[in-house]
This record gives sequence, C-alpha cells and structure tokens, in this order.
Amino acid sequence: MVFPEDTNPLGNAFGGYVLGLMDKVGSYAAARRAKKPVVTVAVGRVEFKVPIRSGDLLEIVARVEHVGCTSLTVEVQVFKERFGGGPETRVLATHGQLVYVAIDEEGRPTPVDG
Ligand SMILES: CC(C)(COP(=O)(O)OP(=O)(O)OC[C@H]1O[C@@H](n2cnc3c(N)ncnc32)[C@H](O)[C@@H]1OP(=O)(O)O)[C@@H](O)C(=O)NCCC(=O)NCCS
Repeated sequence: MVFPEDTNPLGNAFGGYVLGLMDKVGSYAAARRAKKPVVTVAVGRVEFKVPIRSGDLLEIVARVEHVGCTSLTVEVQVFKERFGGGPETRVLATHGQLVYVAIDEEGRPTPVDG
C-alpha cells in the first residue's frame, strides 16, 4: 500500500519511490533466473502512465525478457488498485525495462547460469 510519506503534496507517489520498488522486484526476478547476485546496470525508458495515489495497492510484476552473456533485461509492470475498490479498479500505472548484470564475489560480471 502507498502511504502518505511516499507521496508529494498532491498525493501522488514519488517517481523515485515507484522506481525503487521496480528495481527491487526486477532484481529478484533477474537474480532468480541467473541463480547469482545481480546489480542494476541500466534503467531503460520508464513510463508513468497513470498517477499512483496514497492508499492505492500496488502489484509489481517482473518478467525476464532477454538473457545475454552476463546481463538480463527485465520488463517491470506496476499495477495499481484502489483500496476497497476491487479488481475492476486495477490498472497498469507504470512500466519500464531494467538491465541487470550477474556478478561474482569480486563484483565482476559473470556468465548467467543455463
Ligand atoms: C554492472 C558492472 C559490474 C558492469 O561492469 P562492466 O565492466 O561495465 O561490464 P561489461 O562492460 O563487461 O558489461 C557486462 C554486461 O552488461 C551490459 N551492459 C553494460 N552497460 C550497459 C548499459 N548501459 N545498458 C545495457 N547493458 C549494459 C553489457 O552489454 C554486458 O552484457 P552481456 O555480457 O550480456 O553481453 C559495473 O558497471 C558496476 O559495478 N556498476 C555499478 C552497479 C551498481 O552499483 N548498481 C546499483 C546498485 S545495484
């Protein structure tokens, strides 16, 4: 749930707050696929299509779209639902692509498993 401290004076969620959630969820998807720790190397085009408001419930979906040698490109979607409004109020609010790199113990890029 989005709380007032995550929003600006208009009651809209800060872009950086939403981006932070996207990065966390995207990294879990990338690390799960790589079976190794990952770091964020790039944030691609992110679109904030619909305002996210205080009190909204968020569902964040991350899908690994491309696996390179050491990198993974993840599409992340943020759906919002009005608390108490039911599933019919669920809409895609934000989406974007993030790129992660699998790293070894020294923090160097290492090939993705499989
Ligand atoms: C991520 C990091 C380890 C990559 O090291 P590097 O020596 O630059 O890596 P390379 O040039 O060998 O590239 C590694 C992979 O990343 C990809 N990559 C590098 N920069 C990229 C960019 N700007 N956009 C997309 N992919 C990129 C390369 O194409 C390569 O992919 P591949 O192996 O699948 O072909 C290094 O840049 C780093 O430590 N950055 C800081 C990470 C960080 O602190 N993130 C925030 C907190 S998690």
